[in-house]
Amino acid sequence: MSAHDITEPNRRDFLYVATGTAAVVGAGAVVWPFIDQMRPDASTLALATIEVDVSAIEPGMSITAKWRGKPIFIRNRTPEEIAAAKDVPLTELKDPIARNANIPADSPATDVARSAGESMENWIVMVGSCTHLGCVPLGQAGDFGGWFCPCHGSHYDTAGRIRKGPAPQNLAVPTFEFISDATIRIG
Ligand code: FES
Repeated sequence: MSAHDITEPNRRDFLYVATGTAAVVGAGAVVWPFIDQMRPDASTLALATIEVDVSAIEPGMSITAKWRGKPIFIRNRTPEEIAAAKDVPLTELKDPIARNANIPADSPATDVARSAGESMENWIVMVGSCTHLGCVPLGQAGDFGGWFCPCHGSHYDTAGRIRKGPAPQNLAVPTFEFISDATIRIG
């Protein structure tokens, strides 16, 4: 075997490898921007869930948190507000569905189904976006003492159920849970 015979295949191998590497790098350069665009940035990830300390919210008070760019109403209802919501026959409801992401989708809109559950029924957590055209309703207002949307006059009761006006659905209850006696995780 001559020196020429040995060198020739080696150069061919090198060229082959170099071409192959260029192809891989090229493919990577094309794919990466797509992956990068699909990945949420750090600020979005940080807001995927939020934890809210509700220890200072006395009965009758509410706060508005912000989650994924939306207002979230968190209200500590009084016994009277709970009783008023429980007294409403389901047949009177404009929207008979609970609209609560934490329970089966077809659950009826009883007061407890709208609240944080039997042992925490004083708490109600909802997306603060009117189901008519998305205005932010006012709390402790309206004909039913719940929320009132001044944009076109929708009245929600103390369980956040639509009772009067153009809004078609109850205010949505987002995914949430109490992770301690006084901390709610939303999302
Ligand atoms: S957006 Fe609330 S009533 Fe129209």
